[in-house]
Amino acid sequence: MAKNIILIGFMGVGKGSIAREIVKQHPMVALDTDDVIESMENRKIKKIFEEEGEAYFRAIEQHVAEWLESDVRNTLISTGGGFFKVKNLKKIGTVVLLHADFDTIHRRILAHPNAEKKLKKRPLFQDEARARALYDEREKHYMKAADIVIDVEGKSPEKIAKEIIKKV
Ligand code: S3P
Repeated sequence: MAKNIILIGFMGVGKGSIAREIVKQHPMVALDTDDVIESMENRKIKKIFEEEGEAYFRAIEQHVAEWLESDVRNTLISTGGGFFKVKNLKKIGTVVLLHADFDTIHRRILAHPNAEKKLKKRPLFQDEARARALYDEREKHYMKAADIVIDVEGKSPEKIAKEIIKKV
C-alpha cells in the first residue's frame, strides 16, 4: 500500500470507525480531514459553518486536498461527507467509497449511544428530509469519484476493513 487510501461516503456511513479498524488490522498513519480543518481553524466544524458559512468550509477542504496531494503519502485519509467534491481527488490516492442506503445510515446514527451529539455536530444533517435530498443528489457523484465501492450494509467494521485492505 504505497499510495494514500481515501475513504469517502455520506455522513454517518461509518468512515471513522472503519478507518480505526483498518489501522488496527494494518498499522499505518491515519488522518481525518475534518480533524485537520478543526485544528487549522481552532474551532469546531459546526462553528465554522455558523460563523463563516458552507462556502468557506468548502474552500478549506480544497486547500487541505492540495496539501494532501503534494505532501502526504502512505496515509489512510478519512474525509467529511462533502470532501469528494474537491478537485483532483483521485490524484491524492485510491478513493474508496463506503456505500449504504439512506435509511440504513439514518438508523445507524439514531442507534448510536451518542445520537444527539452525532447529529448536533453535523450542520447538514439537522433535518431528515433535507439530508435525504442531499444523499439523493450526491449518490451518483460519489460513485463517479470512487475507484473502489464497498457496500457496508449489514457488515461489521472488521469485515469491511478486511475487504478494503484486500482490494487496495
Ligand atoms: C459534511 C460532512 C461532515 C463535515 C461537514 C460537512 C458534508 O463530515 O465534513 O459537516 O457535507 O457531508 P462527516 O461525513 O464526518 O459527518
